[in-house]
This record gives sequence, structure tokens and C-alpha cells, in this order.
Amino acid sequence: MNISFSGIVPPQSGALVVGAIDGGALSKTAQEVDKKCGGAISRAIKAGRFEGKSEQVLELLSPAGLGVSRVLVVGLGKPAEFSALSAEKLGALIFDRLSMSGEKQVSAAIDEIAKCPLKSEIVAAHLAAGVRSRSYRFDKYRTRLKDSDKPSLTKITLMCAKMAPAKAAFARLDHVLNGVFAARDLVNDPANDLYPAEFARRAKALGKLGLKVEVLNEAAMKKLGMGALLAVGQGSSKESQLIILHWKGAPRSKKPPLALVGKGVCFDSGGISLKPGAGMGDMKGDMGGAAAVFGAMAALAGRKAKANVIGVLACVENMPGPDAQRPGDIITSMSGQTIEVLNTDAEGRLILADAMTYVQRKHKPCAVIDLATLTGAITIALGDVHAGLFSNNDALSGQIDKAGKAVGETVWRMPMGSQYDSKIKSKFADMQNIASAAGAGSITAAQFLQRFIEKDTPWAHLDIAGVAWTGDAKPSWGSGYGVKLLDRLVADHYEE
Ligand code: BES
Ligand code: MN
Ligand code: ZN
Repeated sequence: MNISFSGIVPPQSGALVVGAIDGGALSKTAQEVDKKCGGAISRAIKAGRFEGKSEQVLELLSPAGLGVSRVLVVGLGKPAEFSALSAEKLGALIFDRLSMSGEKQVSAAIDEIAKCPLKSEIVAAHLAAGVRSRSYRFDKYRTRLKDSDKPSLTKITLMCAKMAPAKAAFARLDHVLNGVFAARDLVNDPANDLYPAEFARRAKALGKLGLKVEVLNEAAMKKLGMGALLAVGQGSSKESQLIILHWKGAPRSKKPPLALVGKGVCFDSGGISLKPGAGMGDMKGDMGGAAAVFGAMAALAGRKAKANVIGVLACVENMPGPDAQRPGDIITSMSGQTIEVLNTDAEGRLILADAMTYVQRKHKPCAVIDLATLTGAITIALGDVHAGLFSNNDALSGQIDKAGKAVGETVWRMPMGSQYDSKIKSKFADMQNIASAAGAGSITAAQFLQRFIEKDTPWAHLDIAGVAWTGDAKPSWGSGYGVKLLDRLVADHYEE
């Protein structure tokens, strides 16, 4: 998608987008356009049900008196409620209306909206971001795609009185979207092409953004005593990899870094506790947490965030086989705590345990946030609407909640406590990897993770199993959930 910014000059071709607020009042540019086409917009509003509510669109084809091929009047809703997120949703709506229409280019002029808290240049930037986000495609495995099945729309011009600040605001959003697209690509990629070593190769390619990238192979992890992570990967012919991304955007800062940890199970068959066949293909996305951390680190480096952040991607493949771990096995984690593995399909918590011990001991972070497609139970509780948030720290939880709301990647905090913790007591080891009784599966998983948090380090766990990919697959099966949230969290609380 070619995205550019210009002053407000009436376009002579393509589609034109103008706005109207709730009640139907036209914006300044919309009024001028209406005048030029002899009042066609006002007449169309009278003839139909368009009221300027958000998500409403009025379309005029080949209006007389204008050079453009069509005019879209988009509803902005109530000005006081119009937010950056509304502008992004509007961008997505515009893309959906026009992308397959045959139209090649569109110009949008959303003027300063009276009583709206946002400046028009910020609206323009977020509108552009919404268009770009929606224009994502994952076509690399299609070899027979006809031109008529590809989007016709390739260019959008945002018209704005103050184009320089609009451009600057978009540049930042554009870097974040690069991270979102990277995360979607990783989640969408099948496990035969994206396995731990390939994940590591792609991480190394982030070096060009100024990130320092370290990769620990199985021998290195064995030396560190990462028995939990290695146990998960031992049934696979693919070598496990611990990938550490360093972003030092505040080199003179004395504050400890923020640590982000992602579950990177490139394929989760369940292992010996094999999953049923139906839907197993979705488990190529079980590295959605690692993808989110990867994308967030790319976004932070791309926009040169003035913060020090470490991203840890725990990448493995969970497979059955002669060398796979067995239910009943007792393994020793890097922390020294032993774990009885009663179900090899509860593997995410095992790899996160060692990744979290590693990052705490090596880098003494100010906080640890992990993202993981950890439990099917969280999709029962929250569906595809919110990620589950589990934390030992109210302040950190509040920050995450707020960041999520601002970018449209919302979380819902779940309870934790000793009554849940006691359900993972083991007959033979320090703990077992599944609860002894059914129920509260997402919470007992979080309790397991908390046992690997040292010295009450502020910690939050996001169970993203319900939101990392979406059924309707528009514009992408892999959602890229988490990249925008993490970027926003860092911008709000961890930058100099
Ligand atoms: N990767 C799955 C969780 C999952 C399920 C993610 C559905 C996305 C959609 C995880 O490794 C898993 O298998 N969890 C088990 C845990 C159980 C064995 C305690 C689950 O949720 O059933
Ligand atoms: Mn599993
Ligand atoms: Zn899994």
C-alpha cells in the first residue's frame, strides 16, 4: 500500500473520502464537495438512512461536477467519542469498501472535527495506519492468484491542512505496523517452514534495525541447566533455540531493563499426550507469544524507542517420538525446582519457566511480562475478545490494561491465589505441570509460571490463546496481537 500525505487539494481521479458527524452534519471539505456536485451529497443523505454514525458509509458513484470516480461520505459518530482507534477502524472500513472495487487510489480528507479531542493531523495518521493494517495479505504460498482476486486499491493520499505533523505521527505508527506484520507473518507461516532454527535466523535479521541478537542452542541451554525447556523439545528432530533480543535505546540509563518473554512452540502436537486431529493445524500458531515479542522488539528498534528492553523467545517443537518426554517424567528446571510432567501437552509453561529464570538471573529486569498461547481454557473464559491477564503486581496490571485499551488489544485480569496454587502440588516432585482437578486451567497454568518469579519481581502473564489468531481471518489469521500493546506500554512507562 502506497501511503502519502498532501494538503487539501481536490483530487481529479480515483475515490474521494469525506466525513460527516453523528446527526449528518458535513465536514468543511464535504460541504465544498457537495456544493461542487450541485448538492448531490445532501440529496443522497435525505433519500437514505445515512446519519453520520460510525461505520455508516454513503457512496456516490461518478458524481457530476467532480473529477473523481466516486465519493464516500463516512460517518464519524459523536465527535467527543472519536479516538485514534476510531480513526484506525475507519481506515479499515475504507480499505474494505474499496480494496476489491476496481478503484486504484483514494484520497481522504477528514477535516478538523469540532469538539473532537484529536487534531486532524493525528486523525489522518491513524486513518492511514488503519488502512495499512487492513491491507495486510499472506499470499506467499499461493501460486495461482488471479489479478482479479488481488486488491485493486494500491494508493491512499491523506489530505490534511498540516501535513508535516501528520507524516511524522504516521512514521511512528508505520514502524509499529512493521512489527505487527512481522508477527502476523510468523504466526501464519506453517511449521514445516518456521521451526526454531528458522525463527532464530529471522531474529538475527533484526540486527539491521540495531537490535543485538543472541541465540542459545541445546548445548548452551544444557550447560545452564534448562531441563524444562529441553524436555519439551527432545521429541523433535528440530533443535530448540533460546533467542535473546536486546534493544538498548537508553544507553545511559541506570534503570534495569524491561523483560518480555514469548512462548515459541513452533508446532504443538501435544507430544505423547497427543492432541486430537481436529484443529491440530492451528497449533502452527502456538508461537504467537514469541511472534508478539519479536514484533514488539522490531517496533521499538524501528522507532528508536528510548528504553532498554530485552526480548526472550523460547522456541521449540513439541512432538511425539522415541525420545519424547513421557507422562510421569520428572524434570529439573534451571531454577532447581523439579516438575512432574503429567501431561506433555502442558508444555508452554515448561519452556517459559526456564526462559523466565534465565532472564531474571542474567539481566535483573525491573519487570517481566510473558505472552503465551498457553491454555484452551482462556478461550472458554474470554473468547477472542480479551487476552487473560495474570499478575503479582497491581501497578503493572493497570499499565497493561490501559495500554491495551488505547490500542484496541484489550486484556481482562483474572484472579490468582494460594487456593489455586495448591492444585499443582505433586506426589513426587516440587510441582506437577497440570492441576490435580479439572477447572480453572488458565489460572493454575499462571500459578505454575509464578513459581518461577524470583524476589517478587513485578510480573504479568498474558494468555493470548484466544486472540493470537482469529476465525474470520480478516485480513489475517494471525492477528499480531500484543505488538501494539507492548509498544504502547513501553512508550507510556519505560522510556526516558
Ligand atoms: N497450545 C496449547 C493451548 C491452546 C489451545 C492454544 C487452543 C490455542 C488454542 C497448550 O499448549 C495446551 O495444549 N494446553 C492444554 C493444557 C492442558 C493439558 C492442561 C489445554 O489448554 O488443553
Ligand atoms: Mn500443548
Ligand atoms: Zn502449546
